[in-house]
Amino acid sequence: MALYPLLRPLAFALDAETAHRATIGALKLIPPRRLPAFPDSLAVEVAGLRFPSPVGLAAGFDKDAEVPDAMLGLGFGFVEVGTVTPLPQAGNPQPRLFRLTDDQAVINRMGFNNAGQAAALERLWRRERRGIVGVNIGANKDSSDRIADYVAGVRAMAPVADYLTVNISSPNTPGLRGLQDEGALGELLSAVREARVAGGPPIFLKVAPDLAEGDASRIVRAAIDSQVDALIVANTTLSRPELRSRFAGEAGGLSGAPLKPLAMEAMHAFRVASGGAIPLIAAGGIASADDAWERIRAGASLVQLYSALVYEGPGLARRIADGLAKRLQASGMSNISEAVGSGAD
Ligand SMILES: Cc1cc2nc3c(=O)[nH]c(=O)nc-3n(C[C@H](O)[C@H](O)[C@H](O)COP(=O)(O)O)c2cc1C
Repeated sequence: MALYPLLRPLAFALDAETAHRATIGALKLIPPRRLPAFPDSLAVEVAGLRFPSPVGLAAGFDKDAEVPDAMLGLGFGFVEVGTVTPLPQAGNPQPRLFRLTDDQAVINRMGFNNAGQAAALERLWRRERRGIVGVNIGANKDSSDRIADYVAGVRAMAPVADYLTVNISSPNTPGLRGLQDEGALGELLSAVREARVAGGPPIFLKVAPDLAEGDASRIVRAAIDSQVDALIVANTTLSRPELRSRFAGEAGGLSGAPLKPLAMEAMHAFRVASGGAIPLIAAGGIASADDAWERIRAGASLVQLYSALVYEGPGLARRIADGLAKRLQASGMSNISEAVGSGAD
């Protein structure tokens, strides 16, 4: 049932943010249903969690945790909601979200618009706990103590999260990426470690793809020292590879197809730096089973996507999962974990 090719022109007639709001509105109308089943070969364990499929929804699509169950129902093996900040905030002035159709890309400078942790917490409390739903946490733009915001996020959201992602890599909150710098990162991660409680959810750290020489090893070392459970590689890029669309000059983070080479390079750098000592989760320009397979072979235990959904429609997660299962079979492997890093060396 390929409905999306018919619906896409309607969605594309709207500006990108209106189309997104309409999509969330439509997803909210989907009645609860059973979670889809996946072949056992796709199940993978990361940080003590069993992911039924390695294909997840990246943060930013469902910032306020409005539709995690609908997205699981569409065939994602896990869903990451957020970024949520301690206090609600409006984000940057509109327009702030742009479809670069000729480039199969997106530029956004949303700026962590969200209804705040309390609103997300309430929604997540109300849902039946099933499937894997991670919560991505950030800091308020005007916060006087950003590290305290992450600590507040860990404390508030842990009871409703299967994992927590510490997001210090959004390019749209001025200065946020500075938390990736040497001293700041150590300070942040030890505060986060202190805030964890025994038996609480694992903590992932999401990094930027815009790396300088040595960044990957330094971040891996800090993450392992502070018992971070996995790294998400990566967020959107501030760089601008050659683009054709009229929105190419817009400020913000670039995602989708043009991010793929950079995200792949970052995956290589983190695999080399970690040698498999910490699980890696890939994001950036993943739009097909081939892309997912390549990232897994480069060292990713899981993959996430967002931008390709805009172009390929909601059936994409399921198609990628099916394609991965076929590739596993063709290569004589019985489980996806055998493929992780198999093309890395
Ligand atoms: C509109 C938009 C909003 C996003 N918001 C967030 C966010 O709030 N937090 C976050 O960690 N990443 C956010 N991201 C980044 C994605 O989670 C992902 O890391 C990035 O887009 C690369 O994947 P993709 O090429 O599949 O989109 C956002 C991306 C887009 C396109």
